[in-house]
Amino acid sequence: MSDPLRRWREHADTAVLLDGFHALKHALRFGAEVPVAVTTDRRAALALAGELAGDVRGALEALLAEVPEPAYASLVPRPHPTGVAALAVRPSREANLRALALMPRTAPVVVLDNPRNLGNAGAVIRLAAGFGATGVVTTGTLDPWHPTVLRGGAGLHFATAVERLGVDELPAGPLFALDPEGEDIRATELPDDAVLAFGSERTGLSPELRARADHLLRLPMRPQVSSYNLATSVAMTLYHWSATGAASPA
Ligand SMILES: C[S@@+](CC[C@H](N)C(=O)[O-])C[C@H]1O[C@@H](n2cnc3c(N)ncnc32)[C@H](O)[C@@H]1O
Repeated sequence: MSDPLRRWREHADTAVLLDGFHALKHALRFGAEVPVAVTTDRRAALALAGELAGDVRGALEALLAEVPEPAYASLVPRPHPTGVAALAVRPSREANLRALALMPRTAPVVVLDNPRNLGNAGAVIRLAAGFGATGVVTTGTLDPWHPTVLRGGAGLHFATAVERLGVDELPAGPLFALDPEGEDIRATELPDDAVLAFGSERTGLSPELRARADHLLRLPMRPQVSSYNLATSVAMTLYHWSATGAASPA
């Protein structure tokens, strides 16, 4: 194997960081191209793979290069308890747009309308991956491939199409926007080609997105509670989709 630190430097400017064993495991499972992966303890990392990720153990064996602790620490913002880090090639915008446009769609697209919290965005990508959603689209300025979003997504950006688009560029399909003022979601069956939109943590749905929505839906919530957290709202809505006749993730 060529010098891993040199390979790291070659890819650092264009690739995205996979921070920790689990992020690397997920990325490999979902077909990410990983040009370099390092660990401070190859034996321990491969033992973990044997225990938790037999399906990608061979790939990890071929990829993981052991580096001294200080070298590893110089590559990551803060050392991960598993002592594993890797770089992955970010899927092209064209590939993501193709995946988002593919019809017939077998699972919804989640839209986060101008999200502000990087941790929420990561949690939503993890949810979308778990439910087999077609993709997660963000509007506004937040970069859904920001390192903090990647950390929250646990390497699952590679399991769904993650892209930033304008409200006027959203994928086709009936647009269901979630808002406490909408109709009760329990009376609605969400189709597989649904586009499910959620508002910003601070200000809710933008006027542009509201104007484009075909349906406004509310999640059951007791009076005097103003709203749920963004990621938990996505979780409830995807669960509702999965439980009301659409394809099941498992
Ligand atoms: C934290 S909330 C936004 C709160 C914001 N202060 C507002 O004025 O709407 C983030 C998003 O979660 C979704 N959400 C939260 N609670 C909901 C509920 N009870 N019904 C439907 N959607 C909800 C909405 O899409 C909302 O825009």
